[in-house]
Amino acid sequence: DDKERFVQALLGWFSVNMRDLPWRRDYTPYRVWVSEIMLQQTQMERGVTYFNRWMGRFPDVAAVARAAENDVLKAWEGLGYYSRARNLHRAARLIMQEHGGVFPCRYEDIRALPGVGDYTAGAIASIAFQQDAVAVDANVERVFSRLFDIDTPIKEKENAAFVRHTAQSLLPRGKARLFNQALMELGALVCGKKARCPLCPVQQWCEAFRLGIVQERPVLTAR
Ligand code: ADE
Repeated sequence: DDKERFVQALLGWFSVNMRDLPWRRDYTPYRVWVSEIMLQQTQMERGVTYFNRWMGRFPDVAAVARAAENDVLKAWEGLGYYSRARNLHRAARLIMQEHGGVFPCRYEDIRALPGVGDYTAGAIASIAFQQDAVAVDANVERVFSRLFDIDTPIKEKENAAFVRHTAQSLLPRGKARLFNQALMELGALVCGKKARCPLCPVQQWCEAFRLGIVQERPVLTAR
């Protein structure tokens, strides 16, 4: 049906266009976790540099846990938002103490880690553990605001709920790792702040494109 054709178009595009990012070489929970925390409020290129250096210093959860907080903060220096690094350190110690050093795979346990919100928990559950969870970040919100021509501020609670619900209903069973990353990649490479619709694999499903108002979506909150 139509839903399956949409998913096939998206996943087919992703398989050809996915960037070669270091955390896509092996999807261990630790690497997925660190990459997702690092990429929040951080440009991709800078994120890649810091990620590779971080993995040299802290190859696993145990290495983070046994480090002093100051050494963790030093590895973070230049990325800003240092609460992210403090939370990584706290969470690493919690994983050693409460989970026997094994990264938790239950969604609720992942979500309970310091610094892990809905987005990050969904990203880890789907990308590392192949669970059918959604991971809605700003890229995905922008994509959906255009696909469904959401004409009120995207940050409004009902819109956030609509995007989560719709993403969940489209998510193909067993393929959340691909599906979630494909949506984020589409938002990063094609459906960016400046949309490149001629390159879009799902243009035929895009209501804002049909109406010629892609650049008017998403509606941002006045502030
Ligand atoms: N931005 C944050 N996480 C990402 C991921 N896993 N793939 C693409 N872009 C991302």
